[in-house]
Amino acid sequence: MADQFKNYIGGEWVEPSNGQYFENRNPAKQSDLIGLWPRSAREDVDRAVAAAQAAFPEWSRTPAPARGDILRRVGDLLTERKDEIARAATREMGKVLTETRGDVQEGIDTAYYAGVEGRRLFGHTVPSELRNKWAMSYRRPIGVAGLITPFNFPLAIPTWKMFPALVCGNTVVIKPAEDTPHTVSLLVEILEAAGIPKGVVNLVHGLGEEVGAAMVDHPGLPVISFTGSTETGSHIGAACGRTHKRLSLEMGGKNAQIVMADADLDLAVDGVLWGAFGTTGQRCTATSRLLLQDEIHDAFVQRLVERARTLTLGYGLDEGVEVGPLIHAASRDKVEQYVEIGKQEGTLVLGGARATGDGLDDGFFFQPTIFTDIKPGSRMATEEIFGPVLSVIRFTDLDEAIRINNEVKYGLSSSIYTRDNVASFRAFQDLDNGITYVNAPTIGAEAHLPFGGVKQTGNGHREGGWEVYEFYSETKVCYLDYSGKLQRAQIDNYDASPY
Ligand code: UN1
Repeated sequence: MADQFKNYIGGEWVEPSNGQYFENRNPAKQSDLIGLWPRSAREDVDRAVAAAQAAFPEWSRTPAPARGDILRRVGDLLTERKDEIARAATREMGKVLTETRGDVQEGIDTAYYAGVEGRRLFGHTVPSELRNKWAMSYRRPIGVAGLITPFNFPLAIPTWKMFPALVCGNTVVIKPAEDTPHTVSLLVEILEAAGIPKGVVNLVHGLGEEVGAAMVDHPGLPVISFTGSTETGSHIGAACGRTHKRLSLEMGGKNAQIVMADADLDLAVDGVLWGAFGTTGQRCTATSRLLLQDEIHDAFVQRLVERARTLTLGYGLDEGVEVGPLIHAASRDKVEQYVEIGKQEGTLVLGGARATGDGLDDGFFFQPTIFTDIKPGSRMATEEIFGPVLSVIRFTDLDEAIRINNEVKYGLSSSIYTRDNVASFRAFQDLDNGITYVNAPTIGAEAHLPFGGVKQTGNGHREGGWEVYEFYSETKVCYLDYSGKLQRAQIDNYDASPY
């Protein structure tokens, strides 16, 4: 009998109200059943929200530095259990152990950043326009934050949302992706061990269309943060718009790596291999377009194909494996459909099929796949695939490369390889993305800088860094008039002004 896991509500590990569970299987070895997790219902969300609301008055009044201290402790415990959590994440998610270790490290970095931020939740003190009057602002918690997180960074992304929300004094309800419930169960175990008070963090497992939908509709969750597909994000946006919830959306990408003829080509090949095939292409920041300048196009493709051909696929816990499986059958079906589209729109120069044999038959493996002769504006050049598929597009000069980069509806990440400073600064200025890298791939954002994209990648918010703390707090402005008389702003100060 497989292990049966629980929800965490009001500081207790509890079974789902409906007694239902779903299976979590290893995407590299479908026969490996990791465990059963609650397929929770609306009632469990109600209970979790009630527990979070009950915990809010005390938590929101706990001094922010004390809240931060708990997160520093969380960082310590994540560090101690880094390898164990990374292994659990690889087993349920598929990416290789070095990558899941990086994923946990991103959570550790986020914990320590949040811990210190508890001592630095700055407001502003501003001169008043009137005499004997003070004006200042500070940041207040909002209430209960509902967090809905994806499979591809099963540890880091929950921490990006949860830790700033907590330091700001909110309580939370989190629903992790149904593909990766184990990693977040371990994270919540750690929060409990670090002394997070009962009800401050609540975990409800289940399906997006059941638990996620119930959270989005719930009147007790004034804040929702979602990372996932642009399509789901649109539904969530519409629902939150109707009820005026504060919403952070982090969604799709169609990120391009531009390689200029003057670039260090070896470096650029390393970059595109990591950007396109790391995490099996399942990052919102993945490189899914490679823009090559005419002069180097053919030679670069040849070098890239030679290297990509040698990538070792397999189970991410096995030695020497470089690329893991896709997350599930539906995702592999989607990749296969795009391969058919790619064959119509361009030339298949590598891969294009399921990877089989040699221990791969029991998982959702797909060969690293490269198409050339892809035209700007085509489906392969504009639609997110979320798999190990790279579309190569040819360009003549930097202006054209910038135009091609910008012609998609997404705007998360971009990259340019060049030795020319002018081209680098043109890229910083003119590429329509939230993040631009020079001489580095489209992936690899650091936890202490704001993360997010423009256009339909998001809705204007950022995660990570200092900006996310604005999202999880409200600005309160406070005026104190000690003049002892009625002073009218914009009226009684006119004589002090030459205008
Ligand atoms: C994502 O792709 O969903 O920059 C997040 C990166 C990682 C985070 C990616 N640090 O690729």
